[in-house]
Order: sequence, then structure tokens, then C-alpha cells
Amino acid sequence: MSQQTTARPERHYIDGEWTDGEGDDTFESENPATGETLRTFHRGTEADVDAALEAADSVQEEWEKLSHIDRAEYLWDIYQELRDRTDELGEIVTKECGKEISEGKADVVEAAHMVEWAAGNARHPHGDVVPSEIGSKDAYMRRKPRGVVGCITPWNFPVAIPFWHMAVSLVEGNTVVWKPAEQTPWCAHIVAEMFEESGIPDGVFNMVQGFGDAGATIVDDPRVDTVLFTGSAEVGQEVARTVAEQPGTLAACEMGGKNAVVVTDEADLDTAVHSAVMSSFKTTGQRCVSAERLIVHEDIYDEFKSRFVEIAENIAVGDPLAEDTFMGPLVEGEHKEKVLEYNELARSEDVDVLVDRDELADDEIPDGHAEGHWVGPFVYEADHEADLRCTQEEVFGPHVALMEYSGDIEDAVEIHNDTEYGLAGAIISEDYREVNYYRDNAEVGLAYGNLPCIGAEVHLPFGGVKKSGNGYPSGREVIEAVTERTAWTLNNSNDIEMAQGLSADITTDDD
Ligand code: UN1
Repeated sequence: MSQQTTARPERHYIDGEWTDGEGDDTFESENPATGETLRTFHRGTEADVDAALEAADSVQEEWEKLSHIDRAEYLWDIYQELRDRTDELGEIVTKECGKEISEGKADVVEAAHMVEWAAGNARHPHGDVVPSEIGSKDAYMRRKPRGVVGCITPWNFPVAIPFWHMAVSLVEGNTVVWKPAEQTPWCAHIVAEMFEESGIPDGVFNMVQGFGDAGATIVDDPRVDTVLFTGSAEVGQEVARTVAEQPGTLAACEMGGKNAVVVTDEADLDTAVHSAVMSSFKTTGQRCVSAERLIVHEDIYDEFKSRFVEIAENIAVGDPLAEDTFMGPLVEGEHKEKVLEYNELARSEDVDVLVDRDELADDEIPDGHAEGHWVGPFVYEADHEADLRCTQEEVFGPHVALMEYSGDIEDAVEIHNDTEYGLAGAIISEDYREVNYYRDNAEVGLAYGNLPCIGAEVHLPFGGVKKSGNGYPSGREVIEAVTERTAWTLNNSNDIEMAQGLSADITTDDD
């Protein structure tokens, strides 16, 4: 099926021009709910990435000479467009990555928020005045752009995450080469059109459509000063390893999680069930912050289980463009296979399966959507002491383990932290001591109390600990990854006086 396929494949945006690039290969973007082809795109090659980096590198110094406020002007145009076109773009997000429509729109709103923050921050102070030990000295911390920033972004937030990476990078004076996810090139194309329309100088923003080989070319190139990566732990670790071997290059990587919600015996059960359902099934479990483990106290376990299972059995899976859908399809066939394999793995690890909707019945699949990548929730009970792969490895789907615990909050947090990952988590409890214990001891970058463990706002640092990340390629914290700090000290006296009591006397043999 090909409803809107254009005769001519869509192009890369390099050095202010739309270009076919050097390669002959093309690829298609697919609607995961219907299987229809949406658009065809040129597939970027090493030569295309090289051209983009050449452009970004050659104009960076000029771009850096503009003030923060002048650079931000280009972003304000984009902000306005994201606002004006939220509904239209939200629908395209939904068509291309399968998120239900309110999530498609929220993706665009999140992008607008990030642009607003980055452009607004142009007028805020950009360094510190620091006291000196010497009265006649002034000391400052000043920031400079690092140079060329390579951005590699995932498909699950195809508009928001690119702006997490690029908005601050550009306002801070860096130029950008962006390789969007191969599953969502249409969204990327529209973002590139916005940059073109903003009139941003040629070469400051560049976008190369393509696959992992194009991303790897960015990561390997010495002209790249910072790599920002959001995606899987597997690829992120490879990015971090490669960059670590290149002196002078930095990487900030935000990777996956095996996130958990802890529900104690002091929990309000309505809040607990509501938060757990949102955490596990929003975006069909395809957020880095989605919860695949629910750690529930034995005293309330049976009631929580029956209420959670009841909802999981009935949650509305369907056409993501319909307002009454809760869960759209998975993003692609390959990913569906992975999720089904993990469901199978869980069965083979002898867990007690409570909800098994991994193959939906024909009447659950909306008309005209038979080719979509449908799965429903898969919920099971697992022993937290058993060393199971299904409760340790990230699935990135609606695959969730209920784990019963006995004892105190200390016991719950021990189970919570028993994972290599550490991105997001939540505690549901009315007891402030439990909440505070969780706050102080949970090993995560994003923590929530009496809320789902998804839905962070853009001005918070977004990143994880342990295997979930190093650095924060998002929000306010991205500034650390895309700028260098200079400690600048100025002497206002004619005499040189040193800190630490260091003698400034020069003695010679004649003395
Ligand atoms: C992701 O999980 O892949 O915090 C990004 C959230 C969103 C971003 C999620 N603001 O849920």
C-alpha cells in the first residue's frame, strides 16, 4: 500500500541545500498502524555525513560570533511554528511512530517547550562571577561553544528529542549535524524544513537521513566535538566507547532502563494502579522511562494485582489516530518480534502469566489495520529472588512483571536497585518517611513520588545512572555537554599577587 508516496525520494539538508546525496539507496517510512508506506527517503552515506560535517565545521566560527540573543532569534521562529502546527504535526508523529494522538501532539508540545527554554535562556546569565582570594583580582567562569555537535536521535520522540539535542546546542553557538532515526524520517524532514524556513545561516544546521552506519560515521569523525545520543544501551555504550578513544571529543548518552514502580503498604491504591498503568502502557511501553517492574507490598498485593490485571485485560489498543485509544501499535515488525520473544522468554522462565494479549484477536484490530504491528499487554508475576532475564533486560514494550515483596521500604528499594539500569522510577506511598527513603536511596536519574515514572518536563535534567547513561543530552544539562568553561582571572593591580600564599617574588643569583 502506498497512500502518500512521493515520486521523488525526500532529501538530506546539507549546507543550506536539499540534496539527494551521493548514494543510490533509498528507504521508506511506514505507518506502523497500517503498514502503508508514507514517504521514501534517500539513505545517507559516509560521503553525505562528510559533506554535512564539512559545512558545519566551516561555518561554526562565524556562527559563534553572533550573540546568544541573535542566534536564539532563529529558534523563536521555529517555536512559533511548532505552536501553530501542533495538531497537524502531532498527527504526523502518530502516523509515523504509532503513538496515540494525544501523545503525538504532546511530542510536538515538548519540542516547543525545549525551544522556548533554549531561546529564552539566551537572555539569562551564562556564567558565574567567582570570588578570588586576592582582593585585586576578578574571577569569572565563562562558557564557549565546543564546536560541532553530532546528534543521534530515536524514533519514540521524533520531534521532541531532536530539539532536546539541537536547541541548546545552537543557541550556545555550536553547529549541528543530525542523524534522525530511520523509522521516523518524515518527522525529521519537517523539522529540517522548519530550520530552512527560519533562515538560519547555511551549514549551521544539517540533517542526513539514514541508518546506523551514517550515525557511526558522525561518531567516528574527529571534526565532531560533542556527540549527543539518545537511544538503546547497546548503541549508546558503543558511542561512549568510541568517543572515549578520541581525545577532545565528549559524548552525552541517555540510554534505556528497566524501570520500576514501588507500591508500599502505605499506598493509596487508586494512585498506585493509575500510576502503574500509565508507567507501563503509555506509548505501548516504548519510552526509555516506561516501567517493566512493579514492586508491590504483600499486604496490598492481591488487591493491586486484581485491579491492575483488570485494566491490562481491557486497555484500549487500537487506531492511534482515534481519541479513545490508549495504546497504539509497536513501531515496526522487527520490534514486535523482539517484544514477542521476550514474552516467550518469560514463559520459558516459568513466571506466572496473568495477562497474555501478545497476539490480539482479529476483532480487536481496527478495520483496515491488519498489517499493523499490534500487541497488547503481557503481565506476569515473577519472584524477585529468581535471577530471570525477563526481569533484568529491557524489552521496550508493554511487558511488565509484578514482584511481591515483604518487609520494609528498605527491602523494596533493594529490589528496585537490583538492576544494571538506573533511569527512572516511582514510589507510591502516603508515608513521607518511605517516600524520603526512596528519594535518598533509589538509584535513578529521574524519580517520582505518587506519580507515574514517565512525563518529565524539559527543564529538568533527563538522564540516568549505571547502565542508563553518562551525561545528559537534554534539558538544561545539555549545556554542560555542548560548552567548555573557561576560568578567567583578571588582575586589577599593577602588582602580581598569587593565591594559596604562593610567593610572587623572583629571586636571582645576584640577590
Ligand atoms: C523517553 O523516555 O524515551 O519523561 C523520553 C518523559 C518524556 C520523555 C521520554 N518527557 O516521559
